[in-house]
Amino acid sequence: MKSALSLERDVPLQPLNTFGVSGQIDQLLRVQSFAGFDRPELYDFLRDPACLVLGGGSNLLFVQPPRRAVRIEHRYQSVEREEGRFVWLRVGGGCPWPELVEECTQRGWFGLENLALIPGTAGAAPIQNIGAYGVELVEVLEAVVVRERATGAEVRLPASACGLGYRSSRFKTEWRGRYLIESIVLRLSREPRVKLNYAALAQALPDGEMATPRDAFEAVCRIRRSKLPDPAEVGSAGSFFQNPLVPASTAEALRRDWPDLVAYPQPDGRVKLAAGWLIDRCGLRGLRRGDAGTWPAQALVVVNYGGATGAQIWQLAQEIQAAVAARFGVCLEPEVQVWH
Ligand code: EPU
Repeated sequence: MKSALSLERDVPLQPLNTFGVSGQIDQLLRVQSFAGFDRPELYDFLRDPACLVLGGGSNLLFVQPPRRAVRIEHRYQSVEREEGRFVWLRVGGGCPWPELVEECTQRGWFGLENLALIPGTAGAAPIQNIGAYGVELVEVLEAVVVRERATGAEVRLPASACGLGYRSSRFKTEWRGRYLIESIVLRLSREPRVKLNYAALAQALPDGEMATPRDAFEAVCRIRRSKLPDPAEVGSAGSFFQNPLVPASTAEALRRDWPDLVAYPQPDGRVKLAAGWLIDRCGLRGLRRGDAGTWPAQALVVVNYGGATGAQIWQLAQEIQAAVAARFGVCLEPEVQVWH
């Protein structure tokens, strides 16, 4: 059996982030099992506020490498409970999200299909409440099991306590740096119901309500492959910016000048604009500055064609922010976590 913790020194950063940014981490502690959770060396790391807790590195831009990091790699799965058509599945934080979605779809535990192929780990999923094609994690998340970094205490947080919203949660805001996510508990359904409220997905499934969750899973995979770079070939962190929420009056004013503005009214009266559309209309889709660029099929995806540094990618991102602010008066906030 693998030991619970393993410490490595001078570790190459490149395989640890999907942007493929190079560098070196002085000390990396890999956590393969929480059996070793009371080990003092882990606390030495976790109590250090400069220590990064790392999952799949798929939503991170390293402008500087962290000196110390803890990487969550334990990936067990266990059924906590079954009742009626529901199954409660506890998943270790290090479980790769795309594998989990595929496995659950195959087993007939439904609810995750629209979230197929999102890079990253299960433990990172609640931090920004991952979402795609009309579904967000909050719809299937029952609880998050965390360890308090300062004390090691285990706490089970109901999903309702975690403040999950559009690409946000308390883990990103007031709880930032407080917890390490050990595992998540999902509430999945045996009922083969598909969610087709996202127009592009409904169009890809002409049989509509007759479509199975497996059909939805495959359609989402096809759409993602057509729009987003293959993570095995081109470095990126998916969408670089959040879709901005603006007052309805701002959206109305913009529509006067830009009749094809992409805008989604929200229940709170605000309007969500498509950041990709804004960047595209600045003429920045397919932009390239050295090895940093925007993806030709989706302007919201900032990419690394090979040798770009974190600083070069960050500079390009700032250039995009400035262009969108100048043309539309809208401020784009990064969706990825930028590590300086
Ligand atoms: N658009 C353009 N030009 C572009 C990009 C987009 O005109 O270069 C337009 C599209 O035609 C569409 C609209 O903008 O009308 C929205 O584009 P898309 O459907 O591709 O979705 P998105 O809003 O850009 C969001 C998520 C994605 C998620 C998709 C599908 C955010 C920040 N991004 O992208 O999530 O996969 O919806 O649900 O909310 C991620 O978070 O990393 C991610 C990829």
